[in-house]
Amino acid sequence: MTEQMKAAVIDTYKQPLPTLKMVPLPVMGPNDVLVKIIAASVNPIDLKTKDGGLKMLLPYKLPLIMGSDFAGIITKVGSQVTNYQTGDHIFGRVQKKRIGTFAEYLAVDQGDIALIPQSLTFTEAAALPLVGLTSYQALHDIMKLRQGDKVLIPGGSGGIGTVAIQIAKQLGAFVATTTSATNFELVKSLGADLVLDYRTTNFAEILKDYDYVLDTRGGKTLADKL
Ligand SMILES: NC(=O)c1ccc[n+]([C@@H]2O[C@H](COP(=O)([O-])OP(=O)(O)OC[C@H]3O[C@@H](n4cnc5c(N)ncnc54)[C@H](OP(=O)(O)O)[C@@H]3O)[C@@H](O)[C@H]2O)c1
Repeated sequence: MTEQMKAAVIDTYKQPLPTLKMVPLPVMGPNDVLVKIIAASVNPIDLKTKDGGLKMLLPYKLPLIMGSDFAGIITKVGSQVTNYQTGDHIFGRVQKKRIGTFAEYLAVDQGDIALIPQSLTFTEAAALPLVGLTSYQALHDIMKLRQGDKVLIPGGSGGIGTVAIQIAKQLGAFVATTTSATNFELVKSLGADLVLDYRTTNFAEILKDYDYVLDTRGGKTLADKL
């Protein structure tokens, strides 16, 4: 009999919540490790996936196990896995076509994982991959931020903002951010140089000569104001 595990599954788009079900353990490829999931985090993309907002881009077959981010312990390694072993504490973000971290076990390619630094708990590590990769790719790989560049990071108190502010500062940039007044101290403690309340201030009237904007909010806000 196939071994079973608990997983959070959607059977139809827009169902109010995923359902906890018994499903078969994931099938491993030679480059995969099998991970016992200790922690997983919820991102905006999980809500969009659940509601079918991405189905034109990502044609998943339902039923679907949700979840992209995870941290856990390797329980088995595939025949071609070279860098990891059973017992390693790892974290990562799975490829979009292989989501399914809201489950007891996950099969994931060795190229999509890293060892958890000793300073992080499983819960802290599981909160980082998607926001960390998004922020790092945008600020480091695409913008190639350098010492003295000026960057606006809207929504500085959110998942992306809290990580992006720290990476931008590490790269030497001058960082402006928007947030509500209650989160001013938080974003300042992360290193933001200039903080604006998006409820009372129009950033376009105050900020001049910025090199980059990490516009995660989308829509017309940025185009309308600049
Ligand atoms: N999370 C990811 O990994 C990820 C990856 C790629 C793209 N994205 C996209 O990035 C956006 C933010 O994601 P998130 O995970 O950071 O969300 P989040 O954790 O919900 O944070 C959103 C932040 O935006 C702030 N905010 C609300 N209304 C605003 C406005 N009108 N102007 C400026 N800031 C405003 C809020 O600040 P206050 O609490 O101070 O009101 C909140 O802290 C979403 O559109 C998401 O789809 C996210």
